[in-house]
Amino acid sequence: MAVIINEENRMFQLITDNTEYQFQADEYDVLRHLWYGEKVGTPMSYLLSYPDVGFAGNPYDAGNDRTYSLHTQPLEYACEGIGDYRSAAVSITHADGSTALDLRYTGYTLHKGKYSLTGLPAVYADEDEAETLEIYLKDTASETEVTLRYGILAGYDVITRCAVIRNAGTEPIRLRKAASLCLDLPYGSWEQLHFHGRHAMERQAERLPLLHGVQEISSSRGTSSHQQNPSVILCSPDCTEQSGRCIGAFFVYSGSFKIRTELDELNQVRLLLGLNPDTFTWTLNSSEIFETPEAVMTYSGSGFAEMSHHFHSIIRRHICRGKYKLIERPVLLNNWEATYFDFNEEKILQIAESASELGVDMLVLDDGWFGKRDSDTSGLGDWFVNEQKLKGGLPELVKRINALGMQFGLWFEPEMISEDSELYRQHPDWAIRIPGRAPMRGRFQLVLDLSRTDVQDYLFRVMSGILDSANITYIKWDMNRSISDLYSHALSPERQGELSHRYVLGLYALLERLVQKYPDVLFEGCSGGGGRFDAGMLYYCPQIWCSDDTDAYERTKIQYGTSFIYPISAVGSHVSVVPNHQTGRITPLTSRAVTAMAGSFGYELDLGLLSEEEKNAVSEQIRSFKSIGPLIHNGSYYRLSDPTKDNYACWSYVSDDKETVLVHGMLFHAQPNMKQAALRLQGLDAQACYTLSGTDAVYTGAALMNGGILLPPYWGDYSPVEMQFRKVHEI
Ligand code: DGJ
Repeated sequence: MAVIINEENRMFQLITDNTEYQFQADEYDVLRHLWYGEKVGTPMSYLLSYPDVGFAGNPYDAGNDRTYSLHTQPLEYACEGIGDYRSAAVSITHADGSTALDLRYTGYTLHKGKYSLTGLPAVYADEDEAETLEIYLKDTASETEVTLRYGILAGYDVITRCAVIRNAGTEPIRLRKAASLCLDLPYGSWEQLHFHGRHAMERQAERLPLLHGVQEISSSRGTSSHQQNPSVILCSPDCTEQSGRCIGAFFVYSGSFKIRTELDELNQVRLLLGLNPDTFTWTLNSSEIFETPEAVMTYSGSGFAEMSHHFHSIIRRHICRGKYKLIERPVLLNNWEATYFDFNEEKILQIAESASELGVDMLVLDDGWFGKRDSDTSGLGDWFVNEQKLKGGLPELVKRINALGMQFGLWFEPEMISEDSELYRQHPDWAIRIPGRAPMRGRFQLVLDLSRTDVQDYLFRVMSGILDSANITYIKWDMNRSISDLYSHALSPERQGELSHRYVLGLYALLERLVQKYPDVLFEGCSGGGGRFDAGMLYYCPQIWCSDDTDAYERTKIQYGTSFIYPISAVGSHVSVVPNHQTGRITPLTSRAVTAMAGSFGYELDLGLLSEEEKNAVSEQIRSFKSIGPLIHNGSYYRLSDPTKDNYACWSYVSDDKETVLVHGMLFHAQPNMKQAALRLQGLDAQACYTLSGTDAVYTGAALMNGGILLPPYWGDYSPVEMQFRKVHEI
């Protein structure tokens, strides 16, 4: 039983294999948060304290008790306008214009299995893998009701959360904020780790102490964004990869979001995660409900590695779906950096031929194959083949590529429209723009209004037409600008504030139709690289192009940050040419390969232009990836260094039985007279002996984890690290 309920004390304990979460409805029916952390086995209400804090008001029903204040108590879902001056989880405007909301506990239900959400991605599980607890709350003065949903996946140490807001009154209400997760931490000292960046430099790990007041991570771009990832980790100041306390949370959502961390005057922390209120309002008519997207959280008392393992497992096994979720993905070659827009069918076939000779499984044809698309100024929306470029069309090209023994994949950017396109000439009102106002253009293009079902239907029809026309087994789904100028011709003025969220719902509806119709097609997400790298997209696409930066050195840092939350199999990663097209940097081919192997592996160059020696190396890399790929994707991933601080990036994959350990990495900058660093491994069997492949040396697991293993000497910059250990016997 993952949930223990004490009916008398109205006390709820959500218990997973290694964690416990507690809250309680108190004497005023206020739902107070009590605990998230180690299993404690006892109600933590004894830690509640009642300071008489000046200017902290008291609810009316507390009478003359100055010590009971909503502003000082840890709350499970904080409301607005009733004396808790910290950030609220939910804000509404009632029909009379007032904004106070005072939610009190009215009851609960508990059932086996995991709740699902309508039209939104969410963690899924079998009946016996999860439990769902629903807590019912109601406003003291209106007919507004809120249900807090908790999905408990005990075996994964994961708790999911969302809220359902219902207007049980007769007049419409307007929702202005509805967080998916509200977590009050009244004790402990916390730092925040989050992942920021920019185009081609996504998910840079940044760890900061919390300052009094509010700290925010957000996107108002209509996508989860390159700039901030919808995930956060709160950790104890002593937290490392292997020890210390941390709470991680991510949003299963691909649009605008806000994560707010507040350190209050009593040094208590409140974490809020949900839709971005800056770009959101929602009108609820009588009897209507609003379901928030889902938040997923976990706790680890043993540092970041364990936290990441919880998230990797839950995303791989209970968010990703479809045929490819757990199997090895094809090694692909994408033509983008090889040709950009400058190709024809002969060029593509020539690239495919040399790739097939070296063992590549799939050729992916990127941007430029459709409409009038010789540059990024035109053609988006016109999803019919450009036969001037591809003579004979797609069926002929795909047939010839299949004849080489290769699969064929195709790039789309379905959500976009170029003003210079047939589609825009026919349907200018399908673009998101405000009448009478010049729209912002991003990469010269506008965004299609995916909240409209006619737009979704058009895209479903044209994409199905292409997919049905040839043997296409992979789609790269790109999205190359942020959304602005929010306005939909299909929405009334009072509902324009709903467009940002309705857009994401429309995107999900379209993706769902396509993944259901084409279960054998592998979908890869992309947004100018990793601008929409989130768990929402991973529900439809089990892998996402991680970054437009293919420079291996920069990638070690991008992939380091990404790995805190997302599994290795989710990371699209390719070997490209040197000098690198984004940075001009030259890195050895092997270093580029081990870095790209920390993901769903592929190439992005014309392999025919390589020297014979390099071609042999590529074919050996592919052969090697076919054998180590299952360990890379199914094993436990460990970050063995911090590439933002250390002069090297190293990581490892450890098989479940701890028999095999693969260490990969890159030494960064060589200097004269350098001492070799000792790299401490993680996750081994301390009591076993391991040999290092290619040597006779034997080490105990304890020695490798405590003393470490010497890294190779530096010679030149960016040299690769490749070491494989095998367990030989117990000590
Ligand atoms: C951005 C993607 O991230 C690239 O890989 C490539 O597909 C281009 N778009 C094509 O326009």
